[in-house]
Amino acid sequence: MKKNEKPIYITQPLLPNLNDIELEIKEIFESKWITNQGIKHDLLEKKLETVLNVPNVSLFNNGTIALLTALKALNLPIGSEVITTPFTFPATPHCISWNELKPIFCDIEPENMTIDTDKIEQMITPNTSAILPVHVYGFPCNIKKIDKLAKQYSLNVIYDGAHTFSTKIKNKSIGTFGDITMFSFHATKLYNTFEGGCLTYNTNGLKEKIYNLRNFGIKNEEEVVDIGINGKMNEFQASIGLLNLKLFKKEQKKRSKIKKLYIDQLKDINNIRIPQMPKNTTDSYQYFPIVIKDSYPITRDELYEKLKKYNIYTRKYFYPICSDYEPYTNLDSSSKENLPVANDLKNRVLCLPYYGNLEFEIAYQICNMIKKFGGG
Ligand SMILES: Cc1ncc(COP(=O)(O)O)c(C=O)c1O
Repeated sequence: MKKNEKPIYITQPLLPNLNDIELEIKEIFESKWITNQGIKHDLLEKKLETVLNVPNVSLFNNGTIALLTALKALNLPIGSEVITTPFTFPATPHCISWNELKPIFCDIEPENMTIDTDKIEQMITPNTSAILPVHVYGFPCNIKKIDKLAKQYSLNVIYDGAHTFSTKIKNKSIGTFGDITMFSFHATKLYNTFEGGCLTYNTNGLKEKIYNLRNFGIKNEEEVVDIGINGKMNEFQASIGLLNLKLFKKEQKKRSKIKKLYIDQLKDINNIRIPQMPKNTTDSYQYFPIVIKDSYPITRDELYEKLKKYNIYTRKYFYPICSDYEPYTNLDSSSKENLPVANDLKNRVLCLPYYGNLEFEIAYQICNMIKKFGGG
């Protein structure tokens, strides 16, 4: 096998046609309205409500600020505990901490690496105010069980849906569960606005609160009613969002072919595992993770290094896990005994290159290398 001339990365951003971007920019220049709830911003909000099939969408300049704002909008008591998982991007626990709340790490379940709902209850204390589960890699959490616990203990639920753009469960949008769901539109995401994100929610009452918080707490020219932030999406981001809305389904279709190829080629290697999307769930096609078992002849890290030598850049996503980060190591819930599954899987998961323009030939090459290094 020969080394690829060009590096193959985990993803390639979905990019609109440059001429179409030029036309959008021309319109923005003519309107002289660059940011602050412009025409394109409002249009994208409306279109996303339809595409995501949710009653309310609020756009943001990135997913992190969106999540930060979601927690703030729910008025959770300062110092209260929010249960989440360590198997996520740093933004998830950081948003809890920035709101002067305390992240409590709950372990994940081994199959699809979302929060282990059998372990949530034992983490709940009188000081718990919310649960922040992550639909990691696009696998949906056990929403039914989370809903039940939230009702039983009067907790808010905020989903980190950064990886689940357009996912549906039994034909219902994933953005309709819990109190609020956050989606990220970062360049690495299936659907992107270069940087960006949104919140979706059912309660119309949250709209004004989120609107104000996103804009420094400004209600009108003479009233500032909240300690807000600058979370506004500008017109350039929104125009990329409008153009990419026309392209994301085609991108998903192309990724579905890569997924099929990967599964066909890798399914018979019994020392790796391919996590499965649950029945009745549509895939967002955000990531393609594989799990390296003990019986695989080399470790995940060795496989990662070997592929890198061929210019194939996979991702040890998530390694380290959030409970390993310096600001969180002193939490009781960060102990290895509390998080055995997350600590095991952090050394096993490898996300393979996954994007619509990935050449089949290269996808085959990646599979052949995984087979070869696995002794196949
Ligand atoms: C699970 C998760 N949550 C939150 C974020 C933060 O989103 P953003 O980059 O749009 O701020 C990301 C990734 O980028 C993510 O993967």
